[in-house]
Amino acid sequence: MSQGIDYTDRIPNNVDLTGDRRLQRALESWQPKFLTWWSEMGPTLATKDVYLRTAINVGRDGWAQFGHVKVDEYRWGIFLAEREGERHIAFGAHKGEPAWQQVPGEYRSELQRLIVIQGDTEPASVEQQRNLGATAPSLYDLRNLFQVNVEEGRHLWAMVYLLHAYFGRDGRDEAEALLRRNSGSVDSPRILGAFNEETPDWLSFFMFTYFTDRDGKYQLGTLKESAFDPLSRTCEFMLKEESHHMFVGTTGVDRVVERTAQLMVENNTDDAGPHGGIPLMVIQKYINFHYSVSLDLFGGETSTNVANYFTAGLKGRWSEERRKDDHVLTNDSTFVDTFTNGSIGEVEVPALIGLNQDLRREYIADCSTGVARWNRILEQAGLPQRLALPHPGFNRKVGAFANGHISPDGEVLSADEWEASHKSWLPTDVDKTHVRSLMQPVHEPGKIAAWLAPPRNGINGKPFDYEYVHLA
Ligand SMILES: [Fe+2]
Ligand SMILES: [Fe+2]
Repeated sequence: MSQGIDYTDRIPNNVDLTGDRRLQRALESWQPKFLTWWSEMGPTLATKDVYLRTAINVGRDGWAQFGHVKVDEYRWGIFLAEREGERHIAFGAHKGEPAWQQVPGEYRSELQRLIVIQGDTEPASVEQQRNLGATAPSLYDLRNLFQVNVEEGRHLWAMVYLLHAYFGRDGRDEAEALLRRNSGSVDSPRILGAFNEETPDWLSFFMFTYFTDRDGKYQLGTLKESAFDPLSRTCEFMLKEESHHMFVGTTGVDRVVERTAQLMVENNTDDAGPHGGIPLMVIQKYINFHYSVSLDLFGGETSTNVANYFTAGLKGRWSEERRKDDHVLTNDSTFVDTFTNGSIGEVEVPALIGLNQDLRREYIADCSTGVARWNRILEQAGLPQRLALPHPGFNRKVGAFANGHISPDGEVLSADEWEASHKSWLPTDVDKTHVRSLMQPVHEPGKIAAWLAPPRNGINGKPFDYEYVHLA
C-alpha cells in the first residue's frame, strides 16, 4: 500500500499530522524557526528558481517530481517509508520480537542521542556549502548543489519529527538546539569534527559528497535496521534521497579527473595546473584529507556503547539481514586495528565491541570503488598515474591511530618525519588558494568551467544546456 503525501498541509507529510493536533502545532511552531535558519545559514546565492525534485510519494515508482521552484519555498516535509505487514527486530537481545512503535523507557536517552547526532549533521552540511553557489562551474552543478542542500534540510525535518513526536519536552529542546549549533562556530559548533570543516571550493564539495555523504549512508544504514520502527522507516526514505548526493560526488570527481587527464595529455605534461586544470597531486591530497576525516566519523575501533546499542536493538550492522551469523554476536570475535609502541597491528576482540570497525570496513570497501573508477579514467586517457586511498591510519584524529604519524603508504613516522612530509600529502594553503583561483563562476546555460568536464547526462532527461537555474 502506498500512501501519497498530502501537500495541502502546511507541512507535507505521510504521517497523518492532522490526526495529532498537538504534534502538528509543535512542528508548525518549529517551522518558522527552520525557515529563519535557512535564510540566515542556507545558500547565499540569490536565485529566482531552481529545477528541483520534490518527494511526492514514498513508493517505489514515481516517488519524486521535478520542476522549477523557489528554493526557500521548497516543500520540506516528513516522509517515512511504508511497511508491509509487521516488522520484526533482526538482531540483538530482542531479536524476533515485533519492532517498536514507541520508544521503550529504558532506551529513551540513547535513542534520543543517536537521533540528535544524525540530525546535527544534516543542517551542518548546508552551512558548510552555503557560499558555493557564487563559484558554481555550471548551472547543472549549481542545481545539484541546491538539490543536495534542500534535501539535507529535509533530513533535518526527518530527525526533528522524531524528536517532537516521541521524545516530549526534551525532544523539542533538542530540535531547537539543532538550529542553534553552527558549523565551525567557536561557541557552539556542530557535534562531529568533519562537519565543522569548511567546504570552500567545488573540489571539496565533490569530495565531501563522495566521502562524507557516504559516511552518512553507512550511519543511516545502521539506523535503518533499528528496532524503533519510525526511525527505521525515516532512514530508509532518507537513503533514497542520499544516493543522489553520492552520485554528485562520484561523478563530480570523475569529471575533475577526466578534465585533468585531458589537459595532461593535450599538453604532454604531469601538471595540469598551468593549463587551467586541477593537478592530479592536488586531487590526491583532497582525497587523503576527506577520506581521513570521514574515517574519524566511525569512532574508535572498539566501543562498548556501540556494543550496547546493538544488543539493545537500537542500531544494527550494514546489511544486517544479509549477514550469515546469529545476529546476536555474543559468542563471536573479530579483529580490529591497533597502534601500540609505534607499530601497526591487529587484535582479536569480542565482535560486539568491534562493531565500529565492522562498519568502517564496509565503508572503506565502498570508497575503493570510486578510486577504481577514477583510475579507469586515467587509464583510458593513456596515463600511467594512479590515485589511491591512503592507509586507514593516515591523518587520523580519532581511534587507535590518533596518536601516531602514519604515511599514506602505512609507514610509521616520527613526529619530525611527519612534519617534514605532511605538506606533500595534505592540501596546503598554496594548493587551496590555487584551487580557489580556478573557481570562477559559470552561470550561463551549456557552459562549463575550464577545470571540469561536462556531465555525460543532464538531470531527469534534460540536456546539459537546460536552464536548470534562473538567477535572481
Ligand atoms: Fe542527509
Ligand atoms: Fe547527503
